[in-house]
Amino acid sequence: ETYIIGVDIGGTAIKFALIEEDGKINHKWEIPTERKDQGSYIPEQIAKSVKEKLAELHITEQQILGIGAGAPGYVDVQNGVVYEAINLGWKDFHLKQRLEEFLNMEAYILNDANLAALGEHWTGAGRDSDQLIAVTLGTGVGGGIIVNGEVINGVNGTGGEIGHITATPHEGPKCNCGRQGCIETYASATGITRQALHVIETDQNTTLKDEYQAKGKLSSKDVFEQAAKGDQAAQSIIDYTADVLGKMLADLAVSINPSKIIIGGGVSQAGEQLLQPVRKSFHSYALKRVADVCQIVQAELGNDAGVAGAAYYVKQRKQF
Ligand code: BGC
Ligand code: NA
Ligand code: ZN
Repeated sequence: ETYIIGVDIGGTAIKFALIEEDGKINHKWEIPTERKDQGSYIPEQIAKSVKEKLAELHITEQQILGIGAGAPGYVDVQNGVVYEAINLGWKDFHLKQRLEEFLNMEAYILNDANLAALGEHWTGAGRDSDQLIAVTLGTGVGGGIIVNGEVINGVNGTGGEIGHITATPHEGPKCNCGRQGCIETYASATGITRQALHVIETDQNTTLKDEYQAKGKLSSKDVFEQAAKGDQAAQSIIDYTADVLGKMLADLAVSINPSKIIIGGGVSQAGEQLLQPVRKSFHSYALKRVADVCQIVQAELGNDAGVAGAAYYVKQRKQF
């Protein structure tokens, strides 16, 4: 029996899966990301964890067709170099080379959200679609664009970086990318929380304020919960977020003409509470011909999208 290893490297956790050639996840596990020394320990940390797990499962490195890894940043796919991943502290980081130093298997590197798109395309909500856009709403906003069944990586690694499309020209919060007003500053978990913290300073009546006082902090989940209980301010945050997101997706969709837009990442757990206003906004901005054939749906693979996509990418390159 042969397997592929999928890895999803995040700022707080590294997720792993041992995957069979048909996409079935045989085993999965995760470890906390060790960010010491500008993240330079991470490849060794990954290799160690993989070796331990394989030993535990009595699987040899020879049974592994390859390892696919996703990083939250710009990736030079040809050389397996991460140009920049701000959350991990990586700059021109030779991830492929470093992994292959420690592991006796071929490594493939891609952007994390590009992998999530491939994962959903393989076994998730995009199973039946060769033209799709996948969005991950997490700490950041990631995106993956699949055209004719292939993910777009671009000439220097920003293919699908839709989190850095400008939502509010020449204004808005500063983004990690160094610019301002990016979609990520509104529609990420961090962006939604930022909006909530702003609202409680000016709105005396919002129940978000009570939540904040009780817990000493707020999360994007609180915004959805308070809105569901009828808080107007919380609902306005959702509506605004959905509005900028829906507009961005309409702009993208007119240039790609996809059959699916798949929304994933932690924030998407809000489900219809988020999807409904996003669809409404999308339809208000999109060309009718584009919107008529494009469904906006929730991701199906949850946290497994990235690791599944990583395995699929290796499979595509290796061809069983
Ligand atoms: C980064 C992307 C990444 C996304 C999700 C963004 O801030 O620019 O490369 O895919 O976060 O992790
Ligand atoms: Na991407
Ligand atoms: Zn940005």
